[in-house]
Amino acid sequence: MKTIDSLGDLAGKKVLVRSDLNVPLDGTTITDDGRVRASVPTIQKLLDAGAAVIVTAHLGRPKGEPEAKYSLAPAAARLSELLERPVTLAEDLVGESAKAVVAALEPGQVAMLENVRFDARETSKVDEDREALAAELAAFADAFVSDGFGVVHRKQASVYDIAKVLPAAAGTLVEKEVVSLSKAVTDPARPYAVVLGGSKVSDKLGVIANLLTKADRLLIGGGMVFTFLAAKGYGVGKSLLEEDQIETVKGYLATAEENGVEIVLPTDIVAATAFAADADAVVVAADAIPADRLGLDIGPDSAALFASKLSDAKTIVWNGPMGVFEFEAFANGTKAVAQAMIDSDGFSVVGGGDSAAAVRLLGFDEAGFGHISTGGGASLELLEGKVLPGLAVLED
Ligand code: 3PG
Repeated sequence: MKTIDSLGDLAGKKVLVRSDLNVPLDGTTITDDGRVRASVPTIQKLLDAGAAVIVTAHLGRPKGEPEAKYSLAPAAARLSELLERPVTLAEDLVGESAKAVVAALEPGQVAMLENVRFDARETSKVDEDREALAAELAAFADAFVSDGFGVVHRKQASVYDIAKVLPAAAGTLVEKEVVSLSKAVTDPARPYAVVLGGSKVSDKLGVIANLLTKADRLLIGGGMVFTFLAAKGYGVGKSLLEEDQIETVKGYLATAEENGVEIVLPTDIVAATAFAADADAVVVAADAIPADRLGLDIGPDSAALFASKLSDAKTIVWNGPMGVFEFEAFANGTKAVAQAMIDSDGFSVVGGGDSAAAVRLLGFDEAGFGHISTGGGASLELLEGKVLPGLAVLED
């Protein structure tokens, strides 16, 4: 993979950087700035090299036209604080405002273009549309640095097509993510344990299938666990259940047995009367969830079981919370997994998205983990063993 050094002397050059600044917002307040912080080292490196930096990024999934609630303004403001210098946000992506901002940009300065998904060509399935947008973006810069790891699985204009028209390289975040995740994917030190959670099995089908040939242990929690419990013939009450995946999950359980992969399911569940922070909750055996309750977390015995299954692992990958960690009463399973990873001597990787947010929101020290990915879907697709377009295009 080409890295920033391959771009040669960048002094006096304009560099377009694709970052992933897709942060959770409460109104205009960023509730987890992890992705903005992760974007800083590459931008700083380019500034230190004497370049002018133009950041392009997306926020949310606007429908190809401007929508105020998806403005990158909060991300630009936070980036400016972190870089301790102004970040000028253009009012558009490739229009008059962007052109004027870019034209005025001097070495050592940073500008940001408005949400790249305000232009429908960014995510178009038609190659010519994306290529046309990429050409307009390319006209702003002398080189392109791909640093939005969270989007490298997307074949989009600012991720993929642009890298074909400008001298292109991976930024330090993408480099670090790929090295760390590859360590877990290609040659994991064993025992190799993977903890999967989150709400849906259907989001993780490819990953589970691939892990059944690679991992030694698969620990399952979160909303998806109820489809596993149902596949074992247990009643799951009003818990989240994907009935159409029960047969698939039965297949996974059979394959795991054939391959000698240990599937660890919770033995107890915190079952509540409603999906609410203050709902009445009791701990029940995993095979005795009352018909009128729904599981919102793994129980204390399961948390201890999961911690013990992680204690001797040499590689741990975790993707997806064990319960509804946003509610204090249902955060214990997720906390137990995070703590077990911190306590482990092995190499631990937190997949992005909700698990990374959980680590930060629950107050864990990020330094206790081997690597915390900024990519949700992207890290899952790497674990799945897929070729990601935004990485393939950066190959030498
Ligand atoms: C993410 O949040 O995982 C990335 O920013 C990618 O966003 P997307 O799923 O909308 O492409």
